[in-house]
Amino acid sequence: MPCPALPDGFDLTDPDLLHHRVPLPEFAELRRAEPVRWIEQPHGLAGFADDGYWAVTRHADVKYVSTHPEIFSSWLNTAIIRFGEHMQRDAIDAQRLILLNMDPPEHTRVRQIIQRGFTPRSIRALEERLRARAGAIVEAARAHSGPFDFVTEVACELPLQAIAELIGIPQDDRAKIFDWSNKMISYDDPEYAITEAVGAESATELISYAMNMAADRKQCPAKDIVSTLVAAEDEGNLNSDEFGFFVLMLAVAGNETTRNAITHGMHAFLTHPAAWDLYKRERPSTAAEEIVRWATPVNSFQRTATQDTELGGKLIRKGDRVGVFYASANHDPEVFADPDDFDITRDPNPHLGFGGGGPHYCLGKSLAVLEIDLIFNAIADAMPDLRLIGDPDRLRSAWINGVKHLRVSTS
Ligand code: HEM
Repeated sequence: MPCPALPDGFDLTDPDLLHHRVPLPEFAELRRAEPVRWIEQPHGLAGFADDGYWAVTRHADVKYVSTHPEIFSSWLNTAIIRFGEHMQRDAIDAQRLILLNMDPPEHTRVRQIIQRGFTPRSIRALEERLRARAGAIVEAARAHSGPFDFVTEVACELPLQAIAELIGIPQDDRAKIFDWSNKMISYDDPEYAITEAVGAESATELISYAMNMAADRKQCPAKDIVSTLVAAEDEGNLNSDEFGFFVLMLAVAGNETTRNAITHGMHAFLTHPAAWDLYKRERPSTAAEEIVRWATPVNSFQRTATQDTELGGKLIRKGDRVGVFYASANHDPEVFADPDDFDITRDPNPHLGFGGGGPHYCLGKSLAVLEIDLIFNAIADAMPDLRLIGDPDRLRSAWINGVKHLRVSTS
């Protein structure tokens, strides 16, 4: 039965909807009444079947789509956002170099290479430096005698530093890299007043910086990830273009996601004092995963059907876009007891905040979990009495469940 409670024109990717709240009641209604639903969307992506998308909202279905890349392609696996007419052909071609957009076998080849930079050993090697960073970030924030913005003072810095450490960006270059990264992801929200041209320019600068880095390391290899990834240009390594886009993707995939997880986590703790007290006492290692489940920083991704297929009793046609809504799956009562509770001891916690399994599952998950752990440990040590001031100021985005500002105070 179609969802009676949802009005005509309802669109889960409407930035104005997500600006105010994650549409949990609507997700609940969809999961109950029409877990695979066609949603009209007049401004789709130029050149593709763009008049709407299938909204997939149940945990089991999101997993199914994510783990069947042969039926649900990631080519143009961008967020289901309201792209305008600006998407030019060459920009679309460039997207082919982004891991998130690739399908097997090309995806398998590139991911196998990139994975070398994300081994448990290489993440562990960053731990002590990132712990020191987290401590320093929190100490600097603590120096504020009055209210301050948790996002700019605490949550922003660590994810950027982590990526910079991972790929060995020299200290002197970090400010400009951070500036490009921030400009690239500040779309859709009027506060930032970043035009698309500035965003695109920043992406180009970042890519050419990374390509130069790759060329340098090829000439003079060092003991770092860049050298490992680009060592020799053959099938087993990244070429300079691929490396440039790899760095671009890290700046997008590992930056704002983790920033928002940290901010949502702080907000969740400060609005759930019993959970914060428990955290401060016991520091459960399950907390970071629950933060990602509860907040789900990435609301959705999209796939495109490669063939006619059936899902949830609906016929999905070849070429149709399919949106997998992690934010909904993560609150599915079929899988999670009391799904709307923030329970930092939840275990097991098979949430889909890092993706629904399958080949594109988040490559940076261990790094993200480490960052979240480190920052909350540092906050619990140094600012245990942090207070919330007012409501979070949410990002206007169709895709990212983001917070621009969160005012807090230590006094
Ligand atoms: C992919 C979420 C942090 C790197 C993804 C996907 C999601 C996600 C939902 C897509 C999965 C799919 O399409 O099936 C998150 C969240 C994070 C986070 C919520 C923070 C809390 C990071 C970090 C990095 C990273 C820190 C690296 C520095 C990547 C990469 C991919 C990816 C490279 C693409 C993998 C592929 O296409 O094969 N992430 N991510 N992510 N993420 Fe993360």
